[in-house]
Amino acid sequence: MAKITYKHPNGTVTVVDVTAPNTVMRGAKLNDVDGIEAQCGGSAQCGTCHVYIDEANTLPLPEMDSVEDDVLYGTACPRQDSSRLSCQLPVSDALDGLLVHLPEAQS
Ligand code: FES
Repeated sequence: MAKITYKHPNGTVTVVDVTAPNTVMRGAKLNDVDGIEAQCGGSAQCGTCHVYIDEANTLPLPEMDSVEDDVLYGTACPRQDSSRLSCQLPVSDALDGLLVHLPEAQS
């Protein structure tokens, strides 16, 4: 289990416990965290689960594959170096303490 923090654009934070094999996206949806739409249900097609990984993050995240890389060019808010699709981030104990920033809009 990992505590994942979702920081909203207005500065408020929501902290939830997420268990494997859920993803950072699924953790938000299961806990009614606003700001992640996930229209495709986690198949890396819609880009509406876009998050920005906190710049201070040192936790081990999986490498981005070419599909995620392509989808991130079509997100509603600008892609940044820290951009990831939260549906492509599987949660494990190793991600305990992860902080992600939610974009202003997803679609
Ligand atoms: S939920 Fe659609 S790309 Fe992640």
